[in-house]
Amino acid sequence: MDRYAVIGNPIQHSKSPLIHQAFAQASGQTLTYEKIEGPLGQFAATADRFRAEGGRGLNVTVPFKTDACAYATDLAESARAAGAANALKFEGNRCLAQNFDGIGLVRDIVHNLGRPVQGQRVLLLGAGGATRGAILPLLAEQPARLFVANRTVDKAVELARFFHDQGAASRVLEGGGYADLSNDAFDIVINATSASLSADLPPLPITALKADGLAYDMVYGKGLTPFLQLARQAQVQHLADGVGMLVEQAAEAFAWWRGVRPDTQSVIRQLTVPLV
Ligand code: ATR
Repeated sequence: MDRYAVIGNPIQHSKSPLIHQAFAQASGQTLTYEKIEGPLGQFAATADRFRAEGGRGLNVTVPFKTDACAYATDLAESARAAGAANALKFEGNRCLAQNFDGIGLVRDIVHNLGRPVQGQRVLLLGAGGATRGAILPLLAEQPARLFVANRTVDKAVELARFFHDQGAASRVLEGGGYADLSNDAFDIVINATSASLSADLPPLPITALKADGLAYDMVYGKGLTPFLQLARQAQVQHLADGVGMLVEQAAEAFAWWRGVRPDTQSVIRQLTVPLV
């Protein structure tokens, strides 16, 4: 039977096996999908072993996404731009790498939540790997503006410069600090920082949020994070966490591996934790 797995550390709480098994069942595909807790600093050896045992593909999560990018022989544009991979496919001696996180985010916002990005003013909080992966898929939707705000301002400025060098319009994509946001309001605000994981709030001025906008936290299953609480205080009507992004990136990987795109709605419903 074709073998797949998710590798991370820690990995205990990963929902990926549940998601992929549901996809396989619904689409009539025969495969196994397991969890691998990779020893720190040993990504390549762990991936080599899985391949030697017949593994066909891996999902990759924290802290191995950069290692996975270095391990691969063939990088898709999404993995190259992000400097990180979240899905690998093994074909003989080749290892193909993709990063589906950003596509998953955009599919969730546009298709599932019904919020077109085109012509919208979008604010991305954070300048780490999660933001890197989101920039190209968001720009592909042609927002009016995409501002990347980060606590360490230089990182956001550098990130914007990196994408400008690859042809992103500097009128649309801009990097800066939270202090630059005091006069601006955004239609879509996405928290791509790791602050929610430690119940922290990025220093976002409440005036950057709009009542008829969307506030999206990339974390999943944490309920009303401090960021979403701020959005509620600003009376933002549409609040979302990253459950849809998680399921959509999994669907992209499944389609890449198996050639069949599974339906995502029932799995999203199953995994949704109320935002309270
Ligand atoms: P990831 O790969 O998940 O994006 P990362 O590369 O470690 O993780 O990046 C984490 C991001 O969250 C960074 O942009 C970080 O800001 P700094 O670059 O200034 O460190 C941001 N971050 C983490 N905790 C934060 C907090 N409490 N407030 C604001 N930003 C925070």
